[in-house]
Amino acid sequence: MPSLHDVTAARRDPELVVLEGFHALKHAVRFGGDVLGVWTADGPALEALRERLAPDLALPPVTLVEHEELTRVVPRAQVLALARRPVQPDARALLALPGPEPVILLEAPRHLGNLGACVRVAAAAGAAGVISTGDQDPWHADALRGGAGLHFALPVRRVRELPPTDRALIALDPEGDVLGATGTPAIPPRAVLAFGTERDGLSDALLARADARLALPMRPGVSSLNLATSVAAVLYGLPSRT
Ligand SMILES: C[S@@+](CC[C@H](N)C(=O)[O-])C[C@H]1O[C@@H](n2cnc3c(N)ncnc32)[C@H](O)[C@@H]1O
Repeated sequence: MPSLHDVTAARRDPELVVLEGFHALKHAVRFGGDVLGVWTADGPALEALRERLAPDLALPPVTLVEHEELTRVVPRAQVLALARRPVQPDARALLALPGPEPVILLEAPRHLGNLGACVRVAAAAGAAGVISTGDQDPWHADALRGGAGLHFALPVRRVRELPPTDRALIALDPEGDVLGATGTPAIPPRAVLAFGTERDGLSDALLARADARLALPMRPGVSSLNLATSVAAVLYGLPSRT
């Protein structure tokens, strides 16, 4: 059984993840995460949260600690947990999944909260998985917090670059053909939907490789949408699979 003091080292351990806040813990438990330890300074408040927000859920055993002890490790969360990082399918296996669900590709996202919000909406909308490139670990505690722990609901994998795939590669780009306009192709099932980095958008290499370059319509004068907002708009604009 780990102690609260192990959490600091766990942040650098590629086999473990740190869950800050109730929602991250809730979804980790709900989607079968292997939670190794849970700490709070206020047991009754945590139990009240569970009853209000997740009455279906039995939390793993919780260790009570002093408030100062908890805030030294995590300054702004009522509950802290440690879980094993689930083994992820490699990117080729993820791309080979046969269903019509799209795969979300995030090219070098910078902002961990944004990255997490993309995972959250991908999980909610039923995407097959999320692949990211670049320096940021999509399983970083800040991304897990932004994703409300929904990383545990679908494969989330970082790669150096997108492996070859038989899926259509659709670049979402404000400069692309406007979705819904006459002559613009619809997004095919099973596509890889590629979204660019917050400041600079998609790389030239990705754009050159893409089968189509599509834009969400925007009012004149608006340069772009937020990354996670774009992922949400595209996923929820896809024809329903039911
Ligand atoms: C904040 S934007 C990047 C802005 C960047 N200056 C650009 O021109 O792409 C981050 C990502 O969100 C997606 N995005 C933002 N607005 C979009 C739009 N109107 N249509 C399609 N994708 C959009 C793109 O994938 C973009 O790379």
